[in-house]
Amino acid sequence: MAERLAASAATLRASAAAAATPSARRAARASRAFFPPSPASSARARVGLRAAPSPLPQKARAVRCAAVAAASDVAQVKAAREDIRELLRTTHCHPILVRLGWHDAGTYDKNIEEWPQRGGANGSLRFDVELKHGANAGLINALKLIQPIKDKYPSIITYADLFQLASATAIEEAGGPKIPMKYGRVDVTGPEQCPPEGKLPDAGPSSPADHLREVFYRMGLDDKEIVALSGAHTLGRSRPERSGWGKPETKYTKNGPGAPGGQSWTVEWLRFDNSYFKDIKEKRDQDLLVLPTDAALFEDPKFKVYAEKYAEDQDAFFRDYAEAHAKLSNLGAKFQPPQGFSLDD
Ligand code: HEM
Repeated sequence: MAERLAASAATLRASAAAAATPSARRAARASRAFFPPSPASSARARVGLRAAPSPLPQKARAVRCAAVAAASDVAQVKAAREDIRELLRTTHCHPILVRLGWHDAGTYDKNIEEWPQRGGANGSLRFDVELKHGANAGLINALKLIQPIKDKYPSIITYADLFQLASATAIEEAGGPKIPMKYGRVDVTGPEQCPPEGKLPDAGPSSPADHLREVFYRMGLDDKEIVALSGAHTLGRSRPERSGWGKPETKYTKNGPGAPGGQSWTVEWLRFDNSYFKDIKEKRDQDLLVLPTDAALFEDPKFKVYAEKYAEDQDAFFRDYAEAHAKLSNLGAKFQPPQGFSLDD
């Protein structure tokens, strides 16, 4: 069943791709001019596309379907974004949704060409075998939170898109920058397509800066992007019962919001700003966490240039973060249509 739904979604997206060509758009305009519009759904109206009534010549009918599919994709992803916003308002789960998106994408290996062997943002993290990887401890809770949203839009929104949508929306809703996202990611279909364990970074390797470069360079990311993306730790907490890092609770986490406990990197750990860089630089508060890989950002001379800049200049951090986050969210992804689609109004 799931596979049938996935196949029909893929067909719809392929049709949407056709509508994106100039000739398809011309034909769609022509069909709209020739046939009076049916009562347009609000979704279609929002993106300025209308369905024309049948009967139509076969070619025109195909174009009409394409236009409706594109509109429906965009409208449904936007509707899912509203549901994510509501989830964030009620459960304050911003941090774990960001971690979910990052851990789906962060398995990417730029040296492997084939999809999905190359890993990345392909929804593989929904399968038990990957959720059980040590680095993913606790992420089952993120999946449980967003599964009802997936169930609401089963045939259109893939897990891969939903994970990245949830993460980008969480950053934006926490006060972070708008991320130039695109959608249309294709899902892997079975657990045998999950990446092997060990692709994500360790928090306490013997040589943290070298380790960060090894892992992030494999993803095709550079020093600036490593530092900017590490700034996502301005949100959230580490829990000893999950990763083994952090205190069971601190004065900043003992009352939640959300499930109490853990150790945060920042005081206001549900607000996205540049306080992570200020706090890990100063290391003055025993209740705030600094992982060995966080400390490396001010110890390694090349990382330090960016870390110092972001501690001083929040706008610079937001600009670089938004760009790096969008890049991370696309790693390894296969899009249908190939150029993806944006939700920008
Ligand atoms: C640079 C290498 C990184 C290392 C070694 C690392 C390690 C960790 C660890 C150990 C935790 C605690 C998990 C737990 O106990 O629940 C954590 C949490 C988190 N990480 Fe990272 N991380 C890295 C990069 C990133 C990146 C690139 C992002 C996003 C762009 C990110 C976002 C988060 C968030 C938001 C949390 C908090 C999750 C929560 O509160 O539930 N991390 N990370």
